[in-house]
Amino acid sequence: MSGSKRARHSELYIGLMSGTSLDGVDAALVDLRSRPLLLGAVFAPYPKELKGALLALHHTSSDELHRASLAGIQLSKLYATAVERLLRRCKVAARAVRAIGCHGQTVRHQPASGYTVQLGSPAWLAESTRISVVADFRSRDIAAGGQGAPLVPAFHAAVFHSSRTHRVIVNLGGIANLTDLPSRGPVTGFDTGPGNVLLDAWIGRRFGRDFDRNGALASRGRPLESLLRTLLADPYFRRAPPKSTGRDHFNLDWARRAGTARYKAADVQATLAELTARSVGSAVIKFCQGAREVYLCGGGARNQDLVRRIARTLPEIAVNSTAQLGIHPDWVEAIAFAWLAQRRLKGQAASLPRVTGAEKPRVLGAVYAA
Ligand SMILES: Nc1ncnc2c1ncn2[C@@H]1O[C@H](COP(=O)(O)OP(=O)(O)OP(=O)(O)O)[C@@H](O)[C@H]1O
Ligand SMILES: [Mg+2]
Repeated sequence: MSGSKRARHSELYIGLMSGTSLDGVDAALVDLRSRPLLLGAVFAPYPKELKGALLALHHTSSDELHRASLAGIQLSKLYATAVERLLRRCKVAARAVRAIGCHGQTVRHQPASGYTVQLGSPAWLAESTRISVVADFRSRDIAAGGQGAPLVPAFHAAVFHSSRTHRVIVNLGGIANLTDLPSRGPVTGFDTGPGNVLLDAWIGRRFGRDFDRNGALASRGRPLESLLRTLLADPYFRRAPPKSTGRDHFNLDWARRAGTARYKAADVQATLAELTARSVGSAVIKFCQGAREVYLCGGGARNQDLVRRIARTLPEIAVNSTAQLGIHPDWVEAIAFAWLAQRRLKGQAASLPRVTGAEKPRVLGAVYAA
C-alpha cells in the first residue's frame, strides 16, 4: 500500500496541547478507529527564553506583532520536534498519521472583544512534519457568539459519560475547567478559575521554582482565611456559566492586589492551593448538583496536597483520577485535540453551545493540508 493510501485509511492522529501553565507541549499519538487508544505520548518542556517571550506577549508591548510571529515559528519548531520524537518512540511513520490537532499557545483570551489568540504557526508545522495540521479551534465558536472555551467537554462526554452515575471531570491545568456529565440530561462545562497558574507563579516569584512539586510548600503553610475570603470574593467565581477565563484575569498581580506580600511564603502558597480547591469544590456543588463522582486530570492531579484539599471540599463525593476510567490524567487534553482534529476532518461539529454559549454547534478548526 502506498504511503498516501495508508494515511487515508488510518485513523491515527496526534494531539498537541500547550496550555496556560506554559510548561511545554504534551504530544499524544492516538488511534481513533473506535474508543481513543493512546499509543504513546511525550512532553517537550519550553526552554526558559521561549516561556519568557510567551509570558511577555500576554501584555501589550512594543513590536508585539513581530515578536508574536517569531514566537509562533519557534513554537512550531518545538512542536515538530515533539512529533518526531513521538513517532520515533512509537515506530510509526509520519505518512501513517491523518492529522495533527494543534491547540497552540494562548497569549490572549478576550471572547468579550470577539477574539482569542493562540500562537504557533500551523503552516510551519505542516511543512516540517509533512502531516496535515488542524489549528485555530476556538475562533469559530467565538464568532458564533460563544466563549471559544472550554472545548474539551465534548470529548469528555464521548469517553467518560456513564448512563449509571453522575460524573464530573475536572482538568487541573493552568486554569481549571470542569465538565458536568449527568447520567441523563445535557452536558455542561466551564472554567472554574485558577488551577496551577497562581501556585506556579507564587513559588516562581519567591523561590525561582517552576512549580510546587507535590504541593510540598503549600502543605507546610496554613491557609490565611481573610486573604482567601478576599480572593474568593472575585465576581468570576459567582458568575453562572457559560464562562471562561485565563491568565489575563488570574495572575500574580490579581493576587497581590489582595495583599499577598504581607504574609509568609508557605502560608500564601497554602492559601492559593486552598483557593483552587475551594473554587473547584464550590463550582461542583453549585453547578453540578447531584454529582456522585469527580475525576481529576491535568498536571494538578499530580499535586497530592491539592488533590487532598479538593477532596476535603467534597466530602460526599468520590474524588479520583481519570486513570480509573482508563485514560492517564497527563494526556487527556492532548488526546482531546487529536479527537477534535478527527471531528474537523470528518466535518463534524465539536462545540457544545450549552458549554460555550455559542448560538449553534460549529465545525471547529482550520486545516493546513500536508
Ligand atoms: N508533581 C507535581 N506536583 C505539583 N504540581 C505539578 C506536578 N506535576 C505537574 N504539576 C503542575 O501541573 C502543571 C502543568 O499541568 P498541565 O500541563 O496539565 O497544564 P496546562 O499546560 O495549563 O494544560 P491545559 O491548559 O491544557 O489544562 C505544572 O505547571 C504544575 O503546576
Ligand atoms: Mg501543560
